[in-house]
Amino acid sequence: MTSSLEARLGAEIESFKRDGVYKRMNFLESPQGSRVRMEGRGEVVVLSSNNYLGLCNVPEVVAAGKRGLDELGAGTASVRFICGTFTIHRRLEETLARFLGTEAALSYVSCWNANTGLMPTFLDEQDVIISDALNHASIIDGMRLCKAPRKIYPHSDMAALEAALKESAGSRTRLVMTDGVFSMEGDIARLPDIIELARKYDAVVAVDDSHSTGVLGKTGKGTFEHYGLGGRDVDIITSTLGKALGGAAGGFTAGPATIVDYLVQRSRPQLFSNALPPTVAYSSLAAVEYLAAHPERVQRLRDNTKYFRERIQALGLNPRAGETPIVPIIVGETAFAIRMSEMMLREGVFVTGFGYPVVPKGEARIRCQISAGHTREDLDKALDAFKKVGREMGLIS
Ligand SMILES: Cc1ncc(COP(=O)(O)O)c(C=O)c1O
Repeated sequence: MTSSLEARLGAEIESFKRDGVYKRMNFLESPQGSRVRMEGRGEVVVLSSNNYLGLCNVPEVVAAGKRGLDELGAGTASVRFICGTFTIHRRLEETLARFLGTEAALSYVSCWNANTGLMPTFLDEQDVIISDALNHASIIDGMRLCKAPRKIYPHSDMAALEAALKESAGSRTRLVMTDGVFSMEGDIARLPDIIELARKYDAVVAVDDSHSTGVLGKTGKGTFEHYGLGGRDVDIITSTLGKALGGAAGGFTAGPATIVDYLVQRSRPQLFSNALPPTVAYSSLAAVEYLAAHPERVQRLRDNTKYFRERIQALGLNPRAGETPIVPIIVGETAFAIRMSEMMLREGVFVTGFGYPVVPKGEARIRCQISAGHTREDLDKALDAFKKVGREMGLIS
């Protein structure tokens, strides 16, 4: 028997298919990398992953994960405060804090959990959250879970941020929350301005550096390093272990020891959800250590990004300007973006089209993500495919 719920959802799914916005999974048969084997497609160049440093599959990272499995088994079978804290968690967290220059760090099973487990833990009706309009969905959901009122300022609009800070003068704590690198735009938060305003109005700054850790700054420490700041100039950093740092899963919050200790005491994903599995803790630790020992990977990522950005621009495809490895090409309608992504796949390049509701209506895009793992051959193959498909779709003459 089909329930009325199934009937309603089934009808909506049919409409997604009719409108050309239905998402189909692509199944990979080889490890994540600059090229992968895709079921039914063969080898394709990947321009869609968050594997910014190419660490998903480096031998040191993979071997560490295996060692974790051998030494500590498959899982923690517990939340942290009951019996799920292993010495590898402490090693990982101390290493993350040392790398970033913060007092302490605390791991979560995802950055989604780190963000949704942050604001509701120490903010309530007496406080206020001031958030950039283009912040990631996990920050938005974190705000939804929190009793604190929220003020959303237009993307990177510092005058609007200042106005929000002034308007909330009576609040106990004002938390300014921003992505470090905005995931759909690829631009960088105006962190020095945000910190200056926060200091002026006695606010706290939290930065989600998921797309910046391992990516920005000379040694990949993130947005603060990009601007010549230290890890302690930002009050709270959240980030992921699922992108540049090995790409497995997991996230963390880094900052003052008191804030981290408070999260241990009260953050709900810590209290009510299993700890990071030892395999992931081991491979993530190996990824951080690898990054610390190989800053040239960050430079390679920067060089690849510059190479790709210059050439895609020269083709006339007009990506959003910027300097990060997230290179969005705005094409308009969602169905167009999905069709273009399908045509790129036929040319052997895996690059994803994003549309509403992930980005505003009319601003659907093909989002390219560059990795230090790409060879010039990989990038040239992708550029050739863009030239061909861009012509076929009337984007370039
Ligand atoms: C800015 C940002 N924050 C948080 C997350 C969530 O990270 P995780 O995959 O570790 O939950 C993402 C992932 O897409 C992200 O882009």
